[in-house]
Amino acid sequence: VSTAAARDEPASLQLALGERSYPILVGEGLLAAAGAHLKGVLKRPVAFVVTDANVARLHLEAFEGALARTGIKTHRIVLQAGEGTKTFDHLARLADALLDAGCERADMLVALGGGVIGDLVGFAASILRRGMDFVQVPTTLLAQVDSSVGGKTGINTRQGKNLVGSFHQPRLVLADTGVLDTLPRRELLAGYAEVAKYGLIGDEPFFAWLEGNGAALLAGDHAARRHAIVTSCAMKARIVAADERETGERALLNLGHTFGHALEAETGFGDALLHGEAVAAGMVLAFRLSARLGLCPPAHAERAERHLAAVGLPTRLAAIRGPGWTAEGLVAHMRQDKKVAQGQPTLVLARGVGRAFLTREVEWEALRAFLADALAGRA
Ligand SMILES: NC(=O)c1ccc[n+]([C@@H]2O[C@H](COP(=O)([O-])OP(=O)(O)OC[C@H]3O[C@@H](n4cnc5c(N)ncnc54)[C@H](O)[C@@H]3O)[C@@H](O)[C@H]2O)c1
Ligand SMILES: [Zn+2]
Repeated sequence: VSTAAARDEPASLQLALGERSYPILVGEGLLAAAGAHLKGVLKRPVAFVVTDANVARLHLEAFEGALARTGIKTHRIVLQAGEGTKTFDHLARLADALLDAGCERADMLVALGGGVIGDLVGFAASILRRGMDFVQVPTTLLAQVDSSVGGKTGINTRQGKNLVGSFHQPRLVLADTGVLDTLPRRELLAGYAEVAKYGLIGDEPFFAWLEGNGAALLAGDHAARRHAIVTSCAMKARIVAADERETGERALLNLGHTFGHALEAETGFGDALLHGEAVAAGMVLAFRLSARLGLCPPAHAERAERHLAAVGLPTRLAAIRGPGWTAEGLVAHMRQDKKVAQGQPTLVLARGVGRAFLTREVEWEALRAFLADALAGRA
């Protein structure tokens, strides 16, 4: 990790996966310098840039201009913004558009956007012409600290989120901290939940740093943003390098997600509750359950919740529950989780801030009773 570089030099990390290793660059103004960075991974000077309508309006011309300045020709494909774009239907249209535009097997797809574009384009790259290369240019905080790194790609189906997909690593990740200036505050905050997740999983000093600097980061402090993104990507890169296919340690990155997915499912995976908001509430549930089971000092659960609530993330089920929510309903969603194995829930719990661990020891009935108390504002 070269964080000692000059102020506007990007920080450079490496995800170490043998010959599939790739750099993750983080810095302000990377979009404008994208041509030079892309050139090194292109086999011919052509890039197929896929983005969504919001990002296209705000950043596509600057990005295309940067590539044009280094002699890279671009084809653009602009999709609808939103989670609804991560479907078979849109995948089929994207594949058609790319093939119509003449993309060859050795060509490069570029995912310019948030996690929706990154997941869809990554999946398309993994199957088009039996596998093409792609570059991630994440434009949301969530995508910069989480979804653009690690090679999980996919789409949603009627049965649930991310149920069809592949592991397909990008060749390069370019995270321009400057593009976050145009991100709506609510989206920025949702991404911040994933930043805090890294501290809560395994880096207490980073969590303490967030307690001191999180508000500045959210208010637009670029140095704070850069530090948080670099620290987050460094942890994710280390974990993915050790466990690419999630047979062990990588599952820790799901802290708050099993609970969170149940909340998202209950609210319809839409604007009512953003993914990061659900993860924030889910992480607090995981800490409170840990405390209730005597695994974690209550003061640590309170500390986790205090910071997330202080920056403005939802932390209490009683505050986000809709009419008709029941503990049984939430448990039913949790049973659909990809992490359920042999019928048992696999949960990420914590022994304290920065000390998450995986467990299969919690019974469904204990979970139901805990959620019933949480819904009633008693836990
Ligand atoms: N692959 C993984 O490892 C992984 C990890 C976490 C999340 N995800 C997936 O990521 C998705 C969520 O990603 P997201 O939160 O980035 O959502 P998103 O891609 O829908 O982006 C959120 C919103 O911000 C807009 N936007 C993006 N960049 C902007 C910018 N710079 N300025 C203004 N607006 C901008 C988008 O148009 C969209 O409306 C989910 O589908 C989730 O499943 C994947
Ligand atoms: Zn997440």
